[in-house]
Amino acid sequence: MYRTHNCGELSLRNLNNSVTLSGWVQKSRDKGFIIWVDLRDRYGITQLVFDEKRTEKEVYKIAQNLGREFVVQIKGTVIERESKNSNIDTGDIEVLVEKLTILNKAKTPPFTIENQTDGGEELRMQYRYLDIRRNPVKEKLLFRSQVSMAIRNYLTDEGFIDVETPYLIKSTPEGARDFVVPSRMNEGQFYALPQSPQTFKQLLMIGGMDKYFQIVKCFRDEDLRADRQPEFTQIDCEMTFVEQEDILTQFEGLIQSLLEKIKGIKKIPFPRISYDDAIKKYGSDKPDIRFNMTFCELNDLAQGKGFGVFDDQELVVAISVPGGASYSRREIDGLIDWVKRPQIGAKGLIWVKYNEDGTFKSSVDKFFNAADLSAWATFCNSKEGDLILVLSGEAKTTRTQLSALRMELADRLKLRDPNVFAPLWVTDFPLLEWDEQSKRYHAMHHPFTAPKPEHLELLKTNPAAVKANAYDLVLNGNEIGGGSIRIHDQGLQSEMFDLLGFSKEDAKKQFGFLMDAFQYGAPPHGGIAFGLDRLVAILGGEETIRDFIAFPKNNSGRDVMINAPSSLDKNQLEELALKSNLPQT
Ligand code: AMO
Repeated sequence: MYRTHNCGELSLRNLNNSVTLSGWVQKSRDKGFIIWVDLRDRYGITQLVFDEKRTEKEVYKIAQNLGREFVVQIKGTVIERESKNSNIDTGDIEVLVEKLTILNKAKTPPFTIENQTDGGEELRMQYRYLDIRRNPVKEKLLFRSQVSMAIRNYLTDEGFIDVETPYLIKSTPEGARDFVVPSRMNEGQFYALPQSPQTFKQLLMIGGMDKYFQIVKCFRDEDLRADRQPEFTQIDCEMTFVEQEDILTQFEGLIQSLLEKIKGIKKIPFPRISYDDAIKKYGSDKPDIRFNMTFCELNDLAQGKGFGVFDDQELVVAISVPGGASYSRREIDGLIDWVKRPQIGAKGLIWVKYNEDGTFKSSVDKFFNAADLSAWATFCNSKEGDLILVLSGEAKTTRTQLSALRMELADRLKLRDPNVFAPLWVTDFPLLEWDEQSKRYHAMHHPFTAPKPEHLELLKTNPAAVKANAYDLVLNGNEIGGGSIRIHDQGLQSEMFDLLGFSKEDAKKQFGFLMDAFQYGAPPHGGIAFGLDRLVAILGGEETIRDFIAFPKNNSGRDVMINAPSSLDKNQLEELALKSNLPQT
């Protein structure tokens, strides 16, 4: 037996017990006549003591030569510590060792296995198994497991069935590029890894499964960001005989139950906002509503006064920064520089200080008098002490720029408290999005999303105005889930493919199986998928998903530990009927 207890559970209750423990040597302190060793496993740390007087010579000698991260087994007796450590659960006791076995030696790790490590990101990724031994990473993985179990329990209790769908499939158009897998048995042909199980879950509804879920890997070949990985996990769900309202209620229940179980947060509101309103009020379809600073459009008040920067622009839009009137000139210049950075791309930033004494000072005093600025302040609900910041230009770009500024200011003002959770449903997304480059419509969500029934007529006359029964769940400014009511009528699905520029043949080639299935009694259905990595990260108080994934990819999509992707050898390429002119690496 390797152990009678783990390294996190012994206490004064076990006093004088004879115990066996196994674990890793965290650190060892040799005082010349006494050696203390911290023994670590997943559960905690237990202090071992080797005493020249009380420990057998042979055992003491081995203890003198223990290195960091050696894997050892000990037998000993639990004794009370003289100087207790209230920071750890086992801090009242130590184990006086009688027998010590080295199970495996270890090279000195390339970085310290401590909460604060000296290892840089790339090094830690290369030795991820060592990084996982560190508490902050380990705890994130334990947390993920806890969240994912709570999700399974909730959905199973609600009658959802967990069904696995294949990974070797045909491309599904979710907007990103596919990862493809060559087929040896079908020369020159490729599978695609699923960007999501979208079409399969719809087929499961046609198959009568009624309520499906799957915690499933999805693969998208897209540029990476803090909240994106090329392979990530979805909580994928689909339901039959439902309307949008049924889905929103069901999954509000899921998120609410998680917040309660994981965070102890009782009932919180799940407000809703339409896509159009979200864009107008926050310049974003994933607004963080933990703080205000909503947009106010100043076109009527600010145009026509001879100020060229505002006149003739599509949009003049402002936010009011609480307490910002006290910003120094330097701080304001800093904000102006910030919006002018290429990543944001604004030409400049107009500011108005609404001073505590009720006076105004602005960068446009030449064009606007106190009465004008006071009208802006009233319109924007600004208070004395606020700073009004104004951008102008083409509507879409200007809103995006102001939204970025709003988030930046919220970060600086510490308004994005990770312990506060503010969910928000964004509904009524446009069905289609015009793409200037390809000069055609793209599905805003995916091609299987149903238009609102009352907009069906518009599909023929003004497709851009058609809204969909599509919704996103936003949590603290992050899109954590998205879904829609689906088309279940073959005729409408075919019309949709036409609109998206698919020829009849292409539609048949790519989606013939779905169109066929629609002819065999497809029920009304709809669903949603949540990004598990994002959800876990946000519940864990962070926005970077990487640390909540055991073996993530770096920003170039590489796994630096196993060195993937890598080239294949010639034989393998030939077997797959692939040719390569590239040099072998
Ligand atoms: P969608 O494309 O919105 O919908 O994806 C659902 C959720 O998955 C998460 N997500 C990601 N997380 C990490 N890395 C990525 N690269 C990544 N891409 C997406 C997001 C997102 O909200 N089939 C539809 C769902 C449906 O209609 O039911 C779909 O995949 O949190």
